[in-house]
Amino acid sequence: MSYKPKTVIEPFKIKMVEPLPLLSEEQRATAIKKAHYNLFSLDAQDVTFDLLTDSGTSAMSATQWAGIMIGDESYAGSQSFRKFESTVQEITGLKHVIPTHQGRSAEDLLMKALICEGDAVLGNTHFDTTRANILSAGARAIDLPSPEVKNTGAFAPFKGNMDLDRLAAQLEKNNSSIALVIMTVTNNSIGGQPVSMENLKAVRLLTQKYNIPLFLDVARFAENAYFIKLREPGYEEKSVPSIVQEMFSYADGALMSAKKDAFANIGGFLAVNSDSLAEKVRSLMVITEGFPTYGGLAGRDMEALAIGLREIQEEHYLQYRLRSVAYFGEGIEQAGIPVVKPFGGHAIYLDAAKALPHIPPHEFPGQALSVALYERIGIRGVEIGTVMMGYRDPESGEEHPADLELVRLAMPRRVYTQSHVDYMIEMLSQLVPELPALKGYKFTYQPPLLRHFTARFAPL
Ligand code: F0G
Repeated sequence: MSYKPKTVIEPFKIKMVEPLPLLSEEQRATAIKKAHYNLFSLDAQDVTFDLLTDSGTSAMSATQWAGIMIGDESYAGSQSFRKFESTVQEITGLKHVIPTHQGRSAEDLLMKALICEGDAVLGNTHFDTTRANILSAGARAIDLPSPEVKNTGAFAPFKGNMDLDRLAAQLEKNNSSIALVIMTVTNNSIGGQPVSMENLKAVRLLTQKYNIPLFLDVARFAENAYFIKLREPGYEEKSVPSIVQEMFSYADGALMSAKKDAFANIGGFLAVNSDSLAEKVRSLMVITEGFPTYGGLAGRDMEALAIGLREIQEEHYLQYRLRSVAYFGEGIEQAGIPVVKPFGGHAIYLDAAKALPHIPPHEFPGQALSVALYERIGIRGVEIGTVMMGYRDPESGEEHPADLELVRLAMPRRVYTQSHVDYMIEMLSQLVPELPALKGYKFTYQPPLLRHFTARFAPL
């Protein structure tokens, strides 16, 4: 009889380490004051647990580092590009593979090539750079998330889904001006929630009916595939690569920020079936991104990406990934901080409105909570609430609040261990009694666009 372990272990051992910055509370208080209470303005050296993002922050494997050493840096037609191209073709089944330096440049190229002034682009929820690229091409970005999203505490297996009724209504009413539909898997902006195969299939049928291209934003495709395996009837016995292939089979193209589910520190791609679209993108990209066989990447980056795209689909890794993120979420919830449920694939989202009911939206509860996490514990998360998603009315000066006041704690891949997570949970439970005493913040400076990056604050 074989033993049945309950603990899901890190399926790797560590060959290379970097020191964890350990600061006193006084040192952190000085650092955050100097940063004008904006976590983006902190030096990474002043952060113990950097949960700002899971993007570009993964630990690469020994095999990826070995790939780096054999990168072919030829300007045109390098072997590293061919390896990257055939890997992406095999995984996605898409014909043309166009490397880019990261996700947003793939978005920029696609929007410039495909959409015209006055068009609309529909999505389950566009990520903010996608939205910015749609807007800057003169089109409208319309989000049609599943209605289940509003209830942050309720369990639904596929909260990342598109609202099919609203999609059908939009396609029926405005189909001549809809240039494109994008499904983001997993749906980052609403909590890293997965999209079901059933929903993808239904979106495919609807877009086909109106002859509108369907693209996938696949920054976290492998996490989405593993959620399908765990939660969607009929997929329990299927392999992750076969689920991934089915996901891609419904799309006309894909955009990827490979800084997430490819374990790479930089990179991305645009992959499409259409010959004419590929030709258009290739002629656009040489002006800013680079020659079509390297995009904005070095040959060595493409080697690391080709290897990472396969490693990410390993089931022991994905089981550990989703379990370790959920373990963190369960611990935070038990410590007494309200969280968005179910837990996402790459991050835990704290519900700052529920945690700090005494701080109104215009005093930024998410900002207050994220500053406290840094000052008291050394965790850097990111506010996703009124600071990031709200805006100040230029005439009345009034703050328009966001729908939700969240703080995202994103987990870099293969970087922090279970004892790091246990330590954070322990410290969070010590923060809980202090929550009612936390104060809100006010802006002392805010830029007109994307204010969260460079704003300055003062405590009230
Ligand atoms: N799409 C999704 C779903 C993303 O999460 C991101 C980036 C992008 C596109 C843009 O890719 O950064 O390579 O240009 N998300 C990061 C985050 C920044 O922290 O969630 P990029």
